[in-house]
Amino acid sequence: MSGRSTAVAHSNIALIKYWGKVDSRLAIPATSSVSLTLDAYRTETTVEWGNDRDSVVLDGDPLSGVPADRVSRFLDLVRDLSGRSEYASVVSRNTVPTAAGLASSASGFAALAAAATSAAGLSLSPRELSILARKGSGSASRSIFGGLAVWYAGTDDASSYAEPLHDPGLDLAMVVAVVNAGTKEISSRDAMRLTADTSPYYDAWVSSSRVDFAGMLEAVAAGDFTRVGELAESNAMRMHASMLGSTPPVSYWEPDSVRCLRLVRELRAAGTECYATMDAGPNVKVLCRRPDVASVSAAVGSLGVAGVTTSLPGPGVRVTEAPR
Ligand code: PMV
Repeated sequence: MSGRSTAVAHSNIALIKYWGKVDSRLAIPATSSVSLTLDAYRTETTVEWGNDRDSVVLDGDPLSGVPADRVSRFLDLVRDLSGRSEYASVVSRNTVPTAAGLASSASGFAALAAAATSAAGLSLSPRELSILARKGSGSASRSIFGGLAVWYAGTDDASSYAEPLHDPGLDLAMVVAVVNAGTKEISSRDAMRLTADTSPYYDAWVSSSRVDFAGMLEAVAAGDFTRVGELAESNAMRMHASMLGSTPPVSYWEPDSVRCLRLVRELRAAGTECYATMDAGPNVKVLCRRPDVASVSAAVGSLGVAGVTTSLPGPGVRVTEAPR
C-alpha cells in the first residue's frame, strides 16, 4: 500500500541548551532544555512509501552515506510503529543552511517524523511525535511545537518529550548573524559525545544547566525578559566552555562570532536589551524584543557578516498534504 504526505516544520534555537546524552540510542539528554521555534527557517518534506529502497533527496541532491543512513534508521522506527515493511522516498527542502548550526536537523527530523507517520497512515499525538522526532535528532523533539518549547530530559523513552511553554507576552524576536553558512567540521552529535567523554568541565556544565533550566522556567513564567536573556546567554557560553575543555578541544567560533558577541555587549551598554546565543556552529543568534528587531539587525548588518536574518516565533509542525 503506498501513501504520501508532506509536512512543514520550523527550526528552533535553544535558550537553555541540550548538550550531552545519558542514552545515545534513544537520545535521552542529560539535561532539560528550552527553545524558541523560529518562523524564518523551515523544512518541507514529502514522504512516499512503496519505494524499492529508501531514497533521500535534499534540496535537489540525492543523499548518500551517513546522512542517508540516518534517515533510513529513522524510517526503520516508523516501519516498526506502523508494521509496514516497504521503503520510502523522502524529498526535502530546507530554507535552513544544512548542518551550519542553524538547527537544520531540528526542522528536518520534525518534518520527517510528521510526514513519514502521516504517509504511513499513523495518527500520532504531538507528544508521540516529539518522542519519535527526538530519536532522529534531539532538538527535533522541540520543533514539533511553535513558540517557546520545553524538552523534559526524562529518564526513559516515554518521559523524554517536549511540550509548549506558555509565553506570557515576552514579545520575543531573534536576529541571526550568519557568520558562515558552510557545513561544520564536527557534528553536534560527535562534539557532544567528545565533551561528555573527555571534558573535565562536562559535569559542571550538567549541574549548572539544571539550575539555569529551573531559572528559565521561572523567568518565562514571570515574563522577565532581562532574566530570560541573561540566562540564555550565560547558558550558551557555559556550553561552549565545556566543549573547549574537550580533548581535542572543540571550538565552533570564528573571528566574526567574537565580533558579534562584542557588539551585543555594546548594544546592551548603550541601552538596547539583547542577548547572544550560539550553537554547534559559528553563527550568533541575538535574542531581543520585537520593537528592537530593526535596530539590532541594522547593527549586526553593519559588522559586514555573511548575512543577517530576522525572525519572529514560528509555528509548530503541520501536515500540509495527507493521503486521501
Ligand atoms: O539536535 P542535535 O543533535 O543537532 O543537537 C543540538 C545541539 C545544540 O543545537 C547545540 C543545542 C540545542 O539544544 O539545540
